[in-house]
Amino acid sequence: MSVNLKGKSLLSLKDFSREELEEFLSQSEKLKIEHMSGKNEPLLHGRTIAVIFEKPSTRTRVSFAVAINELGAFPLVLETTNMQLNRGETVSDTARVMGRYVQGIVARVFAQKTLEDMRDYSGVPVVNALSDYSHPCQIVGDLLTIKEKKGKLEGLKFAYLGDGNNVANSILFGGAKLGMHVSIASPEGFEPKEDVVNIAKKFAEESHGLVTITNNPEEAAKNADIIYTDVWASMGQESEHDKRVKIMMPYQINDRVLDFAKKDVIVMHCLPAHRGEEITDSVIDGTHSVVFDQAENRLHAQKGILSLLIR
Ligand code: CP
Ligand code: NVA
Repeated sequence: MSVNLKGKSLLSLKDFSREELEEFLSQSEKLKIEHMSGKNEPLLHGRTIAVIFEKPSTRTRVSFAVAINELGAFPLVLETTNMQLNRGETVSDTARVMGRYVQGIVARVFAQKTLEDMRDYSGVPVVNALSDYSHPCQIVGDLLTIKEKKGKLEGLKFAYLGDGNNVANSILFGGAKLGMHVSIASPEGFEPKEDVVNIAKKFAEESHGLVTITNNPEEAAKNADIIYTDVWASMGQESEHDKRVKIMMPYQINDRVLDFAKKDVIVMHCLPAHRGEEITDSVIDGTHSVVFDQAENRLHAQKGILSLLIR
């Protein structure tokens, strides 16, 4: 192995070098091949890994439980609503206690600060299973999918249409680190935050990639190899849903937008999808869509990530 990541936490892709991100991908590819041939090596035999949810989840909950099980460890899936956290125990005290029992913590939370506290107080690796700031495991799985479909990452145009949310931030960090042209099209006032864009632009300079931010969806979609979207109202923004749908309708991925992209464009969505809003039925069910291969790859990517991080 060229890099040693044992004991490290994954809070954001921005904290990892290009070489380390490539190691996540190659380990995921290797474990996927083993999974396909029915040979799951129990690399984390006997460990217990807590998987904690402050927010709803289908893919992340199931794929992490299966990933941990296939690695030979026990997935202890917990909802914060049933923990003393919900009755005022602090994150730091909770993390101190958890660190005495388990060998790793995977957590889906609102604030990135919650993950930082878990990392700082538990003494075991913490993996971000989505926060308001980023969704790194999603993007490792997505990059694995793009590599499988396109045979490479470097130089590809990766267009994201929607608001500058957690998924967009992780696409910016991961895509820019790996030499892609990440082009984000968002309505005015919904662009990714300036500090995120500046970090991603720096990564792109180092990798000979490119980061472009525009309010024009056609400009982002033009000659794209990948077109990606996500819900317009993320978890916690439900009250803004109707307002956001009105503003973001020009950013919908439909057959007309696909005409601007390369002929062999692949369409991606982290799911869950709001069909008829950010993506039409004809596109998500059409020949360019890879969304279910993408969902499957969460499992393989997370096996790769956990097997590298957990001691
Ligand atoms: N893409 C994703 O994280 O899905 P869930 O919210 O269902 O986990
Ligand atoms: N941006 C979405 C992603 C869901 C997987 C959300 O945070 O709800």
